[in-house]
Amino acid sequence: MESSKTQLDLVLKGSGYDIEKEIKAFDESKAGVKGLVDSGIVKIPPFFVVPENVVSSQPTPAHLQIPVIDLKDTHGDPVRHEKVIKEIRSALEIWGFFQVVNHGVSKDIMEGMIEGVKGFHEEKNEVKKEYYTRDVKKKVTYTSNTLIHKTKAADWKDTLYFRMAPDSPHPEELPVVCRETTIKYTAYIRGLGDTLLKLVSEALGLNPDHLIEFGCDKGLKIMCHYYPPCPEPSRTLGSKSHTDPDFLTILMQDHIGGLQVFHQNQWIDVPPIPGAFVINGGDLLQLISNAKFKSAEHRVLANHIGPRISVASFFAIYDRICGPIKELLSDENPAVYKEVPLMEYIAQYMWKEQEGGMTTLDRFRL
Ligand code: OGA
Ligand code: NI
Repeated sequence: MESSKTQLDLVLKGSGYDIEKEIKAFDESKAGVKGLVDSGIVKIPPFFVVPENVVSSQPTPAHLQIPVIDLKDTHGDPVRHEKVIKEIRSALEIWGFFQVVNHGVSKDIMEGMIEGVKGFHEEKNEVKKEYYTRDVKKKVTYTSNTLIHKTKAADWKDTLYFRMAPDSPHPEELPVVCRETTIKYTAYIRGLGDTLLKLVSEALGLNPDHLIEFGCDKGLKIMCHYYPPCPEPSRTLGSKSHTDPDFLTILMQDHIGGLQVFHQNQWIDVPPIPGAFVINGGDLLQLISNAKFKSAEHRVLANHIGPRISVASFFAIYDRICGPIKELLSDENPAVYKEVPLMEYIAQYMWKEQEGGMTTLDRFRL
């Protein structure tokens, strides 16, 4: 167990508070963070509290804005196509993050998914309980804080999870309130994922089909987060700082805000833009691009206002060993990572909390 948790444990035990017991009771309620808020708490339970100063951030300077890339006519017009590839290359090199507009997914599809996710999280407990599990083999689950027993502080959020590919769940396995919207949304996300993976391949100077032929679009997991309003947002986080364990993430966030990316030693807001998706490169893209493209740390602040809803779609596969793409290497650009068994990487990502600025991927550096 991490030392800081042990210390906190001792302090709390001295005051008659048993953190393990509280976590167990929270988990067994199967009602998530929303359940705590509905019960009318005005102080957050100690197992959500992060050390002081973790939450604070400076206002985002005007000159540091996440790039917004317009995907209109990317297919038809060769001049626009080149421009977009350049913009994506620069965004992934510098930020690891960008937003896209005119991506071809309609507002109806996007809003429908947000409403469906909200509908699930706001169902009666008896309905949601059926899905509450930490069984990682399940394709459809609802949990609060998958790794609650491992982490130093729990996140102020609940998550509905779908593993949609390689083998999608049977429609009947999806909660009825969001069944149709999820199936439709997934189809559009797979299409947009392929469009982006082609552009990212070209941004790496490779054939457009390179990443798809490699299998980057074979696996798709979707996490539908619900961040309830928080009575003490300066003492906890909606999502703690992390990098994503995938090739590419397509995130849809509602209008509330709170997502931040760590850039040039400071936290920068990723402002909600109606109808836009937030795109970020994950650890696997950083690995295969030989660290040309960044997997940036990001987090979500808790908020007095809520709920905030977001839907994160992760493209990844772990059934192979992979290292930096050979075509990208040269005497001037030697490999900075080993060949990584991705199963081993993901096991480490899941079970070891990222610590002291060291990410899971850093452990595989040469
Ligand atoms: C994630 C994530 C951000 C958000 O699910 O990995 O970073 O806005 N989500 O919910
Ligand atoms: Ni993330």
